[in-house]
Amino acid sequence: MRWLQGAAALWALFAPLSHAVVDDPAKDAAPYHREFVLFRSANMASPDKLSSGIGFHSFRIPAVVRTSTGRILAFAEGRRHTNEDFGDINLVYKRTKTTNNHGADPDDWEGLKEVVGSGSGTWGNPTPVVDGDTIYLFMSWNGGAYSQNGNNKLPDGSVTKKIDTSWAGRRHLYLTRSTDDGKTWSKPEDVTKELTPDGWAWDAVGPGIGIKLTTGELVVPAQRRNIIGRGTPGNRTWSLQMLPGGGSEGTIAQTPDGKLYRNDRPGGDGDYRRVARGTLTSFGAFADDTGLPDPRCEGSVLFYNQADDGPARTIFMNSASKDSRRHMRVRISYDKDAKKWNYGRELSDAPVSGAGYEGGYSSMCKTADFKIGALVESDFYNDKGGGNSYRAIIWRRFNLSWILHGPRN
Ligand SMILES: *[C@@H]1O[C@H](CO)[C@@H](O)[C@H](O)[C@H]1NC(C)=O
Ligand SMILES: *[C@@H]1O[C@H](CO)[C@@H](O)[C@H](O)[C@H]1NC(C)=O
Repeated sequence: MRWLQGAAALWALFAPLSHAVVDDPAKDAAPYHREFVLFRSANMASPDKLSSGIGFHSFRIPAVVRTSTGRILAFAEGRRHTNEDFGDINLVYKRTKTTNNHGADPDDWEGLKEVVGSGSGTWGNPTPVVDGDTIYLFMSWNGGAYSQNGNNKLPDGSVTKKIDTSWAGRRHLYLTRSTDDGKTWSKPEDVTKELTPDGWAWDAVGPGIGIKLTTGELVVPAQRRNIIGRGTPGNRTWSLQMLPGGGSEGTIAQTPDGKLYRNDRPGGDGDYRRVARGTLTSFGAFADDTGLPDPRCEGSVLFYNQADDGPARTIFMNSASKDSRRHMRVRISYDKDAKKWNYGRELSDAPVSGAGYEGGYSSMCKTADFKIGALVESDFYNDKGGGNSYRAIIWRRFNLSWILHGPRN
């Protein structure tokens, strides 16, 4: 039955094209991609340090936005002494040097800066949202003596307590803002009482990005809720929209149909992204999107454009695997409601030299020169596949055409 095998092979070769329900004109443009390490940990050559000289054992949990000027702000957790989720963690960031270099080359970025890092506590989960000339940045915080599971050893030999519902022991939500394009940040304000339900112990905002709706409101994804900002740019009143069944790490987009789209990390032993759709006033139930396998990790979603200059597009990135964080893939949906993901490309098609294993948390923005800019976690410490040893964060830029020339969907 050799001919049958041949037919099957032929079919396999052309099968991805059968998903091409939309003939995207962007495919005809020249594919572009460029990628390099943006956050370099202490064990790498030319590690990133604050101007105070402080360097970091590892960088994790990226978030990236383009401001109203076109400048790009890349945020991360700078973990001082270990790669763990607890202990002394600072909220750090980098800006592009100008408003029009789009972060294309390593030299286009300023040195490492800090939003906040005071004390031995755990500052993290950067979740910025651009609001005209104001950039709001939500963060999670907990005291340095606590961790999510408790009983973790700290560098000084002490052991953490488990996060609890007390004021000292719970996770807090903080908000800071910049009105000078990310150069400086206001003193972070504790908004736990207003924007976290009473009685919660663990909490997480984002991590990733908040969005501005076409109707002007801001929506910031957080554990089992959205944080809604009403009012005018730079002068927002915040409130909660509870989302029963929502995940601990959620992403948000406004799909081309104008609806809100939550795409959350699987909980428990789930294998797929958890998706729900709604509006500011009502939300549907969460359900598995069986087209989007996920190894119980964070992912990122980006509304790219309405159907004005081509088909409407939504972009999604995660590790497309049920059991490994090392299969980073970026996908495009042309559906009004991002139901089906028509094309995709594995990031490993454009490897970063010496980068060890790439994969884990990610964040995306649309750059002012119509590229997708993405931050992706990577592992320079133990590139033999050992888990839980993230060190560095890669910056990638690619255009739609690069995705559309990928071999797989
Ligand atoms: C992709 O990038 C190249 C190089 O910048 C550019 O010429 C091309 O128009 C881009 N295509 C799309 C679809 O953005
Ligand atoms: C902010 O908005 C409130 C109403 O929501 C208004 O009373 C106040 O004057 C505004 N402040 C500024 C600086 O615009």
